[in-house]
Amino acid sequence: MPEVLSPTAAAREVGIIMNGVSGRMGYRQHLVRSILAIRDQGGIELPGGTRVTVKPLLVGRREAKLAELAARHGIDDYTTDLDAALADPRWDIYADFLVTKARAAALRKAIAAGKAIYTEKPTAESVEEALELARLAQDRGVKAGVVHDKLYLPGLQKLKRLIDSGFFGRILSVRGEFGYWVFEGDWQKAQRPSWNYRTEDGGGIIVDMFPHWNYVLENLFGEVKSVYTHAAVHIRDRWDENGGRYTATAEDAAYAVFELDGGVVAQINSSWTTRVNRDELVEFHVDGTHGSAVVGLFGAKIQHRNATPKPVWNPDLADEHDYHGDWAAVPTNDLFLNGFRQQWEEFLASYVQGTDYAFDLLSGARGVLLAEAGLQSSREGRKVDLPTLTLG
Ligand SMILES: NC(=O)c1ccc[n+]([C@@H]2O[C@H](COP(=O)([O-])OP(=O)(O)OC[C@H]3O[C@@H](n4cnc5c(N)ncnc54)[C@H](O)[C@@H]3O)[C@@H](O)[C@H]2O)c1
Repeated sequence: MPEVLSPTAAAREVGIIMNGVSGRMGYRQHLVRSILAIRDQGGIELPGGTRVTVKPLLVGRREAKLAELAARHGIDDYTTDLDAALADPRWDIYADFLVTKARAAALRKAIAAGKAIYTEKPTAESVEEALELARLAQDRGVKAGVVHDKLYLPGLQKLKRLIDSGFFGRILSVRGEFGYWVFEGDWQKAQRPSWNYRTEDGGGIIVDMFPHWNYVLENLFGEVKSVYTHAAVHIRDRWDENGGRYTATAEDAAYAVFELDGGVVAQINSSWTTRVNRDELVEFHVDGTHGSAVVGLFGAKIQHRNATPKPVWNPDLADEHDYHGDWAAVPTNDLFLNGFRQQWEEFLASYVQGTDYAFDLLSGARGVLLAEAGLQSSREGRKVDLPTLTLG
């Protein structure tokens, strides 16, 4: 079990093994924007005054790259030997930002070594494996956290505030649009890694995004009860990091309908093959009996029922009404930190205090379940009901 700090202790250093720090997420979001930001602010303070500081150990396959990162950021420790790091009691938490395919094996080792776990999503490639990891962590008594970053986006925090205030009345439906154009890689370099477009390498927009949609939907609107998905590989010919042509085997778009506990219907389009005509790269439009909202990564706007116009359908007349003008901006009224860092701070506090942590490997497994059910739905051309996952 993680050590519980005595209430009289003044400071506690937490050693964090960071595996995959050369990657997109590992470097920018987890190392620079989260752990180094926490280190550079002198740690976090818990209620009662205890200060929790962080000490990262960079882990990867290429020593020269790790040495360069360590030197660039003033980090003392790096290694290519994960097993030795896991055997070393100086390190408390194993954090994983590897490609999805490499994750489960590394998590299994870290759990066996008794380290607390903090990991990117999806936690595994199949729901069986995701559940197995959750059970192993429970049996070994290690605390685990899974990245739920979208919940910490300022726009979604404003949405949560709207929901909690009762603004919507009864929520009827949610429409989500996520996506942007990812270049094929020939005449302009692709802005995402090529493995994202190969099923055999753990790619696909469903595996990538449905774990996010699962925790967003269940934490804001209700647990997902069923899914219908149409997946498409719209673009077959893509070019990789070295300019080599390859055939995309994984879907680059998914059009899905989710039924939620309590009756809310959510429709979410996820696409790397759409050109943006929205304010932000992700937007959710929520309709309720008393009001509606459109929220993005940062922004949120609302329309109350008292401000709702009464359009009349008339194809013979151009409609001069400014529908965008009927919406009011929701003010920020708060300081929102980077979402990855906020979640890291909460996880570290929960780890040191020994409190329950809701965004755990079982929550991660529900995300994997939704991705798996989405793929099954698309393959079979039908709606798929989701079972309730338990660790028992
Ligand atoms: N939370 C989010 O918003 C979000 C966004 C993008 C990606 N992700 C997740 O983060 C993870 C990493 O994605 P990324 O976009 O940073 O990928 P990336 O390809 O940029 O980085 C992957 C990292 O894994 C390492 N790696 C690759 N193959 C490996 C292997 N066989 N064994 C050990 N290490 C290996 C690479 O060296 C690199 O450090 C994925 O699981 C992805 O689903 C999460």
